[in-house]
Amino acid sequence: FLHCNGEFLSNKIRKFPDGFQFGASTSAYQIEGGWYEDGKGLSIWDIATHTDPSQIKDKSTGDVAADSYHLYKRDVEIAKELGLDFYRFSVSWPRILPKGFSEQINQAGIDYYNNLIDELLKNNIKPFLTMYHWDLPYELQKLGGWVNPYIIDWFVDYAKVLYDNFGDRVKLWTTINEPKQICYEGYGSTLKAPMLNVTGVAEYICAKNVLLAHAKAYHLYDEHYRKIQNGTIGISISCTWFEPASDTVDDHQAAIDARQFDWGQYAHPIFSKAGDFPLELKRNIALKSAEQGYPRSRLPELSASEICLIRGSSDFFGVNSYTTKLTYRDASLEGMYAVPSYMDDMAAVIISNPAWPQAQSTWLQEVPWGFHKILKEIMKLYDNPPVYITENGWSTSGGLLDEDRIRYYRNYLNVLLDAIEEGCDVRKFTAWTLIDNFEWKNGYTEKFGLYEVDFSSEKHNRTPRKSAYIYKEIIRTRTLDP
Ligand code: BG6
Repeated sequence: FLHCNGEFLSNKIRKFPDGFQFGASTSAYQIEGGWYEDGKGLSIWDIATHTDPSQIKDKSTGDVAADSYHLYKRDVEIAKELGLDFYRFSVSWPRILPKGFSEQINQAGIDYYNNLIDELLKNNIKPFLTMYHWDLPYELQKLGGWVNPYIIDWFVDYAKVLYDNFGDRVKLWTTINEPKQICYEGYGSTLKAPMLNVTGVAEYICAKNVLLAHAKAYHLYDEHYRKIQNGTIGISISCTWFEPASDTVDDHQAAIDARQFDWGQYAHPIFSKAGDFPLELKRNIALKSAEQGYPRSRLPELSASEICLIRGSSDFFGVNSYTTKLTYRDASLEGMYAVPSYMDDMAAVIISNPAWPQAQSTWLQEVPWGFHKILKEIMKLYDNPPVYITENGWSTSGGLLDEDRIRYYRNYLNVLLDAIEEGCDVRKFTAWTLIDNFEWKNGYTEKFGLYEVDFSSEKHNRTPRKSAYIYKEIIRTRTLDP
């Protein structure tokens, strides 16, 4: 294997440990379509794409997407072709609860997921269900969405509907996919729906509510369902590695701060022994809030009982990881913001290294050693929790011969094996993504799929890329060949 800087990493056949499992991931809004069919309610993404199409690069929507609402059997067939141990998909909250509340259940939505789950089990593929992958019912957003603390109960009621209807067959659960993308990107910026853009304030309120919603849904399962249903439940957090741009103390601190804002904000309250938000987060936001004349920190406090509720509320650390950034501190930028700002609170400047291989997505570069550092850091900071890689993948502009995706997966899996050899408890790997989809604000301009989808035809034919054959071979042999 060639490291991206040309160095040889390994020249022997490497075997995955016994019991290690492989999967692929998708999300409801990105593949299902059927946006207004059979009683489904609207989500914040339906609203975002319909009210202002210019928000999306190619002005597209997920109205039809890969049409998995109708073609789910073909998706399962693909999962089977690949030999996946599990398939990670998400449930569309408004397809099941059109208004968001559990008082009104849409039976057609329940039927759809029952059919998908049964089809998977029939093919010997474990269903791995994500409860929330960003398509909030619009009716709940009208009430404030993730910045309204009532959402904690709305989410728990929704989770109960999922346990009651699917828990007899689903044994792998993620509550929330990527809190940072929900909170910072959705409420602190315009990168994701609902594009609220109240930076330095809304994302922290959202963070607290997401953590509590997750923790309460976890405890509901743990205390009332686990004994009968016997499943595993956790959260998926997106983790980017931030590397100091130089060896100065300041740049090292900037990298630590960036990691704590990016993922420690969500991981520390759940996985650290002490619980609560990380020190760096509390210190930086309190300092900036005071400079800006606020009597209290803009970061909401977690009470002792909330800390206790959140701490330990995950059976595994779900890692979604793609890339690495360089980080430095620029003192001349400090104090420039008289108004709240997440970027200013973080006090780190984030840049890419143009020398690293670049994907179609601007934010995505291939840096396997950064992925390795994340796994080691999680082992060190959080006492070696069971880790499931719940997402990892590479985007291209299209085409079936995706040599760069193959190189990316091989290099990332290679360092994953290094991490396992060094003691990290990594148990699952999930490729993002099974089939091409609607890539949020980039519409259909980026392709992450192991299978290509022909969006130009109503049939939405799926065709394996070269990477699909390679991934299949890795799964079949449980080895990485040199
Ligand atoms: C992951 C998300 O963070 O990144 C996926 O969980 C998403 O839903 C993927 O498709 C790629 O991100 P983007 O923003 O380039 O579409």
